[in-house]
Amino acid sequence: MNKIPLSRVFLNDEIREAALRALDSGSYILGAESRAFEEELAAYVGMKHCVLSSSWTAAVMLLHQAMGLSEGDEVIIPSHTAFPSVEPLIHCGAKPVFVDVDETYCLDPAAVEAAITPRTVGILPVHLYGHPADMDRIMAVAERHKLWVLEDCAQAHGARYRGRRVGSIGTASAFSFYPSKNLTVLGDGGCIMTNDDQVAEKVRMLRNHGRKSKFTHEMVGYNLRFNEIQAAVGRVMLRHLDALNARRREVGALYGERLAGLVETPTEAPWAESVYHMYVIRTRERDALAAWLKERGIATGIHYPVANHQQPAITARYDDIPALPRTEALVGEILSLPIYGELPIADAERVAAAIAEYRGGEKARGAGGAR
Ligand SMILES: Cc1ncc(COP(=O)(O)O)c(C=O)c1O
Repeated sequence: MNKIPLSRVFLNDEIREAALRALDSGSYILGAESRAFEEELAAYVGMKHCVLSSSWTAAVMLLHQAMGLSEGDEVIIPSHTAFPSVEPLIHCGAKPVFVDVDETYCLDPAAVEAAITPRTVGILPVHLYGHPADMDRIMAVAERHKLWVLEDCAQAHGARYRGRRVGSIGTASAFSFYPSKNLTVLGDGGCIMTNDDQVAEKVRMLRNHGRKSKFTHEMVGYNLRFNEIQAAVGRVMLRHLDALNARRREVGALYGERLAGLVETPTEAPWAESVYHMYVIRTRERDALAAWLKERGIATGIHYPVANHQQPAITARYDDIPALPRTEALVGEILSLPIYGELPIADAERVAAAIAEYRGGEKARGAGGAR
């Protein structure tokens, strides 16, 4: 029986040819492919500027600097996210103020207002697992308190919030192109998006040694640039993104139907169009179910097993860590099932059948229940 991976990259001859064309072009860094990729990404999302950098983490470091984030500032962020969401702001001397998530696993808008202090400068919602955060409510709080909002879209390329693409709603946004993402460049890569001409220009300069022209450095910057071969790959991937997301949604619907009542399935809010970067179920039997699926050749993952406000790097730094009951409960129960843009429907059916079989056996043993 074939093994079913958690995810798999999309790779076809069009991508191979694009990479070879870039290889033969004689231009390797921030050339025509990178400029075109930036323009195409900005148009796809609906923002004025897109600036590529070597990863989401790098791009956001530069963005925070360009927006003036500094020592003593506070940024409100959900604890339940990938650790890199938190890192760049700490490197700028700012402090993460962790809050809980709502039933969609995204930043709970109701928790934001209570976390605001005179030092708060921004909010960093994460569109986790491909599901948009409740942006209208987050933007309303931000406007009331004059805060910026940076959308973490690393897991949500193409997702929509009330019909609008995520990444076009906040003050700025950032995407990752790491290989597991819905849109990848088959290596590390990322970008920020903004409608602010000055911020975009500053990020462009910072990523390239602080220069505007070849030998004039107007600020002290970095080398966090982007490569032509990866831009060429990304441009092809972008043309396939909607079709790959459509399959993810098809698999999401299948899982939702087959697993209802067996485990807790993810909620898609009425205003959301999720792109199912991950399909995350919840069950108290998480580890036993993962072992059962592994025995049947089905890979699973845990995103994420340790809440960020409880990570050693965080607890060693701050002594006023809040209790976040929802996050603390869910990290022990979540399990990510196989999902990717070309997952065969038959494989998704096999995953669902294996979970049903597990739950059947469990009920016969007298356990069971929705979780
Ligand atoms: C939600 C989220 N934010 C940020 C990142 C960081 O992206 P990168 O690996 O491109 O720095 C990731 C990727 O792991 C992520 O999933």
